[in-house]
Amino acid sequence: MTVCEYRAGLEGVPATQSNISFVDGQKGILEYRGIPIEELAEKSTFLETTYLLIWGELPNKDELEAFEHEIRYHRRLKFRIRDMMKCFPESGHPMDALQASAAALGLFYSRRALDDPAYIRAAVVRLLAKIPTMVAAFQLIRKGNDPVQPRDDLGYAGNFLYMLSEREPDALAARIFDVCLTLHAEHTINASTFSAMVTASTLTDPYAVIASAVGTLAGPLHGGANEEVIDMLEQIGSVENVRPYLDDCLQRKSKIMGFGHRVYKVKDPRATILQNLAEKLFEKFGRDNYYDIAIAMEQAVEEKLGHKGIYPNVDFYSGLVYRKLGIPTDLFTPVFAIARVAGWLAHWKEQLAENRIFRPTQIYTGLHAIPYTPITERRETLVD
Ligand code: SDX
Repeated sequence: MTVCEYRAGLEGVPATQSNISFVDGQKGILEYRGIPIEELAEKSTFLETTYLLIWGELPNKDELEAFEHEIRYHRRLKFRIRDMMKCFPESGHPMDALQASAAALGLFYSRRALDDPAYIRAAVVRLLAKIPTMVAAFQLIRKGNDPVQPRDDLGYAGNFLYMLSEREPDALAARIFDVCLTLHAEHTINASTFSAMVTASTLTDPYAVIASAVGTLAGPLHGGANEEVIDMLEQIGSVENVRPYLDDCLQRKSKIMGFGHRVYKVKDPRATILQNLAEKLFEKFGRDNYYDIAIAMEQAVEEKLGHKGIYPNVDFYSGLVYRKLGIPTDLFTPVFAIARVAGWLAHWKEQLAENRIFRPTQIYTGLHAIPYTPITERRETLVD
């Protein structure tokens, strides 16, 4: 067995073979099952795209209607999960609440029949249907209110906005949110998807797989960046302060949130689409003053870091859309998770189809055959 060269963060190291999505980081191309993201964003819906990702082809009319019906039917949460959420501290981060609640689903559906297509479909439907309800439920519970029941007369995106705000969703807002979910649904072997695959490879249940992925997505270098971007724009405060802020970041060698990507060395195609969605919302609901700061930041970063391939990623403009939709900042990453459940489940299913447990090797840099030192002979505690 030849040991491959060690690459920090497995950069450039293939961890699987997959036909779910494709990214060309030099040309700024993203395709789901070969279909360009721009086409899907304009012409598809999140649930139709989810079906494409998980089952490999666009559904026909009957298949899509059946899938949408099943999702509507399974949106409600067990009262024990709602009651469990009422025990969570209001100050807890919604991503931790989501990870705990997703794992708890496994307590109700513990049977593991990973070779049964009906079991796979049931788990896919339950997770896609219930995750949005969990995110909205924690939002209302942490404000001291009872969560509202999902509405079967609303589509996937509109129902989430309704459960979050308890108000009838605006049609344009619901459509734009649905496009945001499509944009965030899948992105080859990113950290949280890789986490899902590693967990899936041990043949544990799909609820543990999604809980692993949620925990991974939460980090600020990954899905947590969208929340950090808004905090950054708030801290910058004005267009005039953009360059001093950037110069300070560069001097401290700190990463600028919403910029850079392991694969894209040009502007993330999703960022471009999200920017257009933000502008549509501004036309109808008024411009967000943070947008001018964001535009100035993008220009300043391109001047300073464009030569290193540092451009806006998916997280840079998404927060401005979510803010305009009335979504609280600390729910931005749970919203990312709602969408990415589609990609995680697609890779879970693909991993099961030709599974081998992930068990990489290491390059050992430690010592060998060291004698045990009795505690009476160990070094004194250094008092600082
Ligand atoms: C997502 O993988 C995916 O597909 C993820 C995602 C998805 O859909 O699943 O696209 C979603 O996670 C988007 C990324 C969100 N994260 C952020 O916005 C956080 C800020 N970005 C960086 O932390 C960084 O760009 C990463 C983590 C996204 C990528 O990091 P890499 O590939 O490990 O790059 P690196 O840290 O090795 O940096 C390479 C160089 C360094 O400079 P040098 O030391 O070589 O001189 O680029 C610089 C870095 O300092 N750099 C940045 C930077 N990102 C990279 N400098 C300033 N600001 C940044 N944001």
